[in-house]
Amino acid sequence: MEGDAAGAGAERVRVELGARGYDIHIGSGLITRAGALLRRVLPMGRVVVVTDETVAALHLPALALSLAEAGIRYDAVVVPAGEESKALAPLGDLLDRLLALPVERKVAVLALGGGVVGDLAGFAAAITLRGLPLVQVPTTLLAQVDSAVGGKTGITSRHGKNLIGAFHQPLAVLADVASLATLPPRELRAGYAEVVKMGVIDRPDFFAWAEENGGRLIAGDEAARAEAVRRSCLAKAAIVGEDEREEGRRALLNLGHTFGHALEAEAGFGEELRHGEAVAIGMVLALRLSVRLGLCPPADAERLARHLAAVGLPTRSPAPSAGRWTPNALIAHMTRDKKVADGRITFVLARGIGRAFLARDIPRADVEAVLAGGGAS
Ligand code: NAD
Ligand code: GLY
Repeated sequence: MEGDAAGAGAERVRVELGARGYDIHIGSGLITRAGALLRRVLPMGRVVVVTDETVAALHLPALALSLAEAGIRYDAVVVPAGEESKALAPLGDLLDRLLALPVERKVAVLALGGGVVGDLAGFAAAITLRGLPLVQVPTTLLAQVDSAVGGKTGITSRHGKNLIGAFHQPLAVLADVASLATLPPRELRAGYAEVVKMGVIDRPDFFAWAEENGGRLIAGDEAARAEAVRRSCLAKAAIVGEDEREEGRRALLNLGHTFGHALEAEAGFGEELRHGEAVAIGMVLALRLSVRLGLCPPADAERLARHLAAVGLPTRSPAPSAGRWTPNALIAHMTRDKKVADGRITFVLARGIGRAFLARDIPRADVEAVLAGGGAS
């Protein structure tokens, strides 16, 4: 527990990366205390807030007031909401707007929003003037438990998801769980998939906690939300602290993403399928593939699917129609994923809940069978 500028009841999780290490502050109302919290970590008293239109209307006034009260000068750059902003043209526009302000090397970029804003603004910070300081203030559950932590930033190319990017660690992350109150239920559920993911990777106790508390969390219980963010950040910080640049273990965080990115690509990265929904389906497919290969007890795959369905997340890929959503179409997307090495697709499989591992050279016929709806052989 923190009793300082973060306020009573706030928690702090440290990402241990030596000189690039930082704190993730988790609590209710942190946006209204952001100025006091950030004054100590900012290299100078000036930031550029990058946010999207939706979040600007809901949360920028409180952030702006808190920065002003702390004597931190700020400019705001507002981008359109949605995945379309994670692309080359919007990035170019953002870079132009940053440089036109102008910015100098010690001015921090403050990303206020979901994973789209965090990834876009983070990448802009990584490459503007060869690197500006970055602060992440995530306002979706997905961003609080995953995307704002660990330094992955980037945009999507027409060749695939997140193919252009950089590692750029923030100076601090402020996860204000009160900001989740304005999040549409569909977005909240999508983010919850990444909470479940952390349990499936290597925290079976956390998965059991999620089974017990996921319903409360989705229904609006702030304490459950804060606990899920804290435990997810602890799990992610441990992995990132060990393998910052994804040379090994960090790839486990891609559980559900090999299938998931293919599903998102097929959906056109839009409203049809949110990222977290694709990850939910992808995790079920990954466990069903593990079952089919004789590696995972069928009961664990079913336990995962049951919990995801219980909180209202999808667990199946849309049915093939008019040549879309076919195993062939999805495998074609997978081969363009950046996790392909030597032309071989990397899968994250599991020996059970909490026992994920990396695997290559999975026979195409097994992947096809699982995508076609066939589970265990
Ligand atoms: P998002 O940023 O598009 O946010 C979802 C929607 O919610 C948007 O319309 C946004 O305007 C709105 N919103 C955000 N906060 C709100 C709030 N508090 N109240 C009301 N509305 C709010 O999507 P996301 O799900 O947060 O992030 C998805 C992106 O994150 C994907 O592009 C994915 O690739 C990326 N991602 C990155 C990493 C990483 O490690 N960098 C990890 C996971 C996902
Ligand atoms: N979201 C995957 C990672 O941060 O590595």
